[in-house]
Amino acid sequence: MAEGEPAFLAPAVSGVCQNFRPVQKQFFGFPHGNLMLGAVFFQIATIPMETGDRAQVKHTQESVYPLDIHARGIYVRHVLLRQEDGCSREFFDYDAEKSFMAGVLEFNLNGRPVRVEGISPNTTLLEFLRGNGLTGSKEGCAEGDCGACSVAIIERDADGQPTYRAVNSCLMPVCLLAGREVVSVEGIANSELRTPNSELRNLHPVQRTMAEGYGSQCGYCTPGFICSLFEGYYRDDLHTHDDLDDQLAGNLCRCTGYRPIRDAAIEAFSLRSSRGNEAQIKSGDDSETPSAFAKLRHDKHVVSYDEDIFAERLKKSDAKLGAAEYQFAGEKFFRPTSLAELLRLKRENPDARLIAGATELGLDIAKRFKKFPTLISTESVPELKEIKVVEGVASSSSRRRESAHTSEVMARTDVHDYESEWHIGAAVTLTEIEDKLAEEFPALGDMLRVFGSRQIRNRATMGGNLVTASPIGDSAP
Ligand code: FES
Ligand code: FES
Repeated sequence: MAEGEPAFLAPAVSGVCQNFRPVQKQFFGFPHGNLMLGAVFFQIATIPMETGDRAQVKHTQESVYPLDIHARGIYVRHVLLRQEDGCSREFFDYDAEKSFMAGVLEFNLNGRPVRVEGISPNTTLLEFLRGNGLTGSKEGCAEGDCGACSVAIIERDADGQPTYRAVNSCLMPVCLLAGREVVSVEGIANSELRTPNSELRNLHPVQRTMAEGYGSQCGYCTPGFICSLFEGYYRDDLHTHDDLDDQLAGNLCRCTGYRPIRDAAIEAFSLRSSRGNEAQIKSGDDSETPSAFAKLRHDKHVVSYDEDIFAERLKKSDAKLGAAEYQFAGEKFFRPTSLAELLRLKRENPDARLIAGATELGLDIAKRFKKFPTLISTESVPELKEIKVVEGVASSSSRRRESAHTSEVMARTDVHDYESEWHIGAAVTLTEIEDKLAEEFPALGDMLRVFGSRQIRNRATMGGNLVTASPIGDSAP
């Protein structure tokens, strides 16, 4: 019992608290309360409880309120729990150590570890960033269209290698960031790249060429463009102007116009020195390039890949997503790492929503202000993240022949013989599918190129697109 606490707390606290594990201090709002007591009960050590538990809430010496626990959650110690007042046996037998869910999640933001606690797992990354003073990322549409909220995360590409991916932070619940590395526009500016250029010393090449090439007017869209260009800078598959347009298709600018922005991108990408010429955007026609850029190209402001801390960060990262659990005020988030665990969690939480890229559920959160009580991420389940070719399967033609009942059906069937087929896990992103299959299936590549934007494809999954049956979910052939 801490010194100075009201005396009436003493008996209950001393009698009960050994069963619980205080983990943090925070303000508390009752998730289902009509008690209107949250504000007056201050804050204090957290007490995990389960659905069905009953407790007594002692507001003052005289007033005691019953409290049904509707969801496992965090309850303040000032909620007094006394067996003689009607708390259930189950509650007292509750094994806090065993059933405890973390009220904290961690991720890396701009090279520094960040702890997230005391907020809903449904909070979007954009809300989190701006609420913590990183207001570079903007909210334009809150539905994944304008790109003003873009940030970069480290993700695995289709070959399992770490890579930067621009994503819409307005759609991404912060719980999905557990264990990830995030770069916001503020982190890009403080890159400490050794570019010998006075006041622009700390700007990344994509920022410097935007500034020097007048790629920004009101600036509202600029942080988002910077993050998309940042991803593009570290991609080695942008070879043409079409590729560049594709990279920027998820960012809208209402006042500068796109020409200076494209020029800035071309210039920045040309500064990548040691990644080989194949990584450059081929301008084709020098008259397209403003003269200031032509001069820059001959300057010595070339950033060596080896000096680039972001490239170094990629080399050090394995981009592996481990298991995660987080909860606040009865809202829960799980990220299992096996199919068996995923199925178990779904069984135990039948109302839980499965979530992967959050391009659909993120809309519900950002635009319809929904709070999902339980979210289960599919992003770390190996079987669902797999994209592989399976050899030696029965050819599609033979299977079709088996199922064809008449020669007429056979005649109408477009029969091809395949000796192998691709298996795409439900949580594989459209970008991974594009990277892996567009060459072999050009029609698929053409379709994906006009599907959403780069940021959306970096998160949206084939499985999610099918099961949400979104009216804009037209990835299925
Ligand atoms: Fe427009 Fe996020 S705010 S895409
Ligand atoms: Fe104003 Fe792009 S600079 S919206």
